[in-house]
Amino acid sequence: MRAMVCSRFGGVDDLTWTEVPDPRPGPGTVLVDVEAAGVNFADLLMLAGRYQVKPSAPFVPGFEVSGRVAAVGAGVEQVAVGEPVMGFVWEGGYAEKVVVPATAVFPRPVTFGAVEGAAFLAGYGTAGHALFDRGRLHAGDLVVVLGASGSVGSAAVQLGVVSGAEVVAVTGSDGGERLARRFGAAGVVRRDRVCDLAEAVFAVTGGRRADLVVDPVGGAVSRRILDVLSPGGRLLVVGFAAGDIPHLPFDLVQSREVELVGVYWGALADRFPASNRRLIAHLSTLAAEGSIRPAVTATFPLPRARDALEAVRRGDPAGRVVLTVG
Ligand SMILES: NC(=O)c1ccc[n+]([C@@H]2O[C@H](COP(=O)([O-])OP(=O)(O)OC[C@H]3O[C@@H](n4cnc5c(N)ncnc54)[C@H](OP(=O)(O)O)[C@@H]3O)[C@@H](O)[C@H]2O)c1
Repeated sequence: MRAMVCSRFGGVDDLTWTEVPDPRPGPGTVLVDVEAAGVNFADLLMLAGRYQVKPSAPFVPGFEVSGRVAAVGAGVEQVAVGEPVMGFVWEGGYAEKVVVPATAVFPRPVTFGAVEGAAFLAGYGTAGHALFDRGRLHAGDLVVVLGASGSVGSAAVQLGVVSGAEVVAVTGSDGGERLARRFGAAGVVRRDRVCDLAEAVFAVTGGRRADLVVDPVGGAVSRRILDVLSPGGRLLVVGFAAGDIPHLPFDLVQSREVELVGVYWGALADRFPASNRRLIAHLSTLAAEGSIRPAVTATFPLPRARDALEAVRRGDPAGRVVLTVG
C-alpha cells in the first residue's frame, strides 16, 4: 500500500508519498481500507515532535479514518468485513490501509459519507467529552466556545446547541462566523475586531456570565475569558491552538470559585473504553437523526496531505479538512 510517511520530526515538508508494507490485523484489531482521513491541528504538532504522543520516525501520521472493514483479528465481533466504519488511531491514518484497535472502531452513521466519517471522532468526541463528561452541561446553560471555526470548536457549538444550551461562539474569521451561525450559535464574538474579549462577550450576553467555556485555544485568550465565568463556572482546558500554554491566576480561581477542568478525549478511549463507547454511541445517534454533522469544507487527495495541513495551519477554510483516498 501507499502512505504519507514522515521521515523525521520537523514539518510538513518531511512527508512523502511512499510504498510501505501492508499492515496486518492482530487479535482485537480491525484492518480498515481507508476512504478518507481527517486532518487535525494535532497532526502538525506530531509532525513537529511537539505532541504528547511521540512515535519513532519514520512514521505515518493521522488520527482519524473512515472506510470499510477489510479484515478483523481474532475476538472482534462488533464490526464485520465490508461494513462502513470510523476509527481513531494514534498514528497511521494517512494511508490506504490502517489497523485500528477494535475499541476505537465504530459503525459509520447512515447519514454520513466517507468524508464526514473522517471528520467526526476527534472533534465531536472531544467536544462531547468536554461538555457532557467533564463540563456537566445542563440545558439552558450559557456556553462560550473559543476557536469556533476549528474542529473541536465547531463541534462544541453544534453539540451545545442541540443539547439546549445558549452558545456564544468566539471566532476570528467571516467563515467561522457563518459556520457558528449555521450551527445555531445565539451570538458570535469576532476576536479579530474587539479590543477586550470579556467585554465583547458581555455585550452579546447582556451581562450574563457563562456556565462553561470550551477552550481549545490557550494563550492570552484563556486568561481574559476566565473573567466571563459565573461562580461555579468551568473553564474546559482542551488545547493550545494559539501556541502558548497560559499561566492562569489561582487567586481568581479561588476568589471567584471557578473550576479549571482538564479534557483529554484520546486518553478516555484508552483508559475508559466503555465510557468512550457510550459517548460515541450517543453522538452517533444524534448524527443518525440528522441533529449533528461535521462541516467538511475542503478535501484533498491523500498525496496532497502537505497542502491540507497548511490549510489547517492557516485556519482557512473554516470547518474541517479531509483527505480522500483512491
Ligand atoms: N484535549 C483533547 O482531547 C484534544 C482533542 C483534540 C484537539 N485538541 C487540541 O485542541 C486544540 C485545537 O484543536 P482543533 O483540532 O480544534 O484545531 P483547529 O481545527 O486548528 O482549530 C483551532 C482554532 O483555534 C482558533 N485559533 C487559532 N489560533 C488562534 C489564536 N492565536 N488566537 C485565538 N484563536 C486562535 C481558530 O479558530 P477561530 O478563528 O474560529 O477563532 C482555529 O480554527 C489543539 O491544541 C489540539 O491539539 C485536544
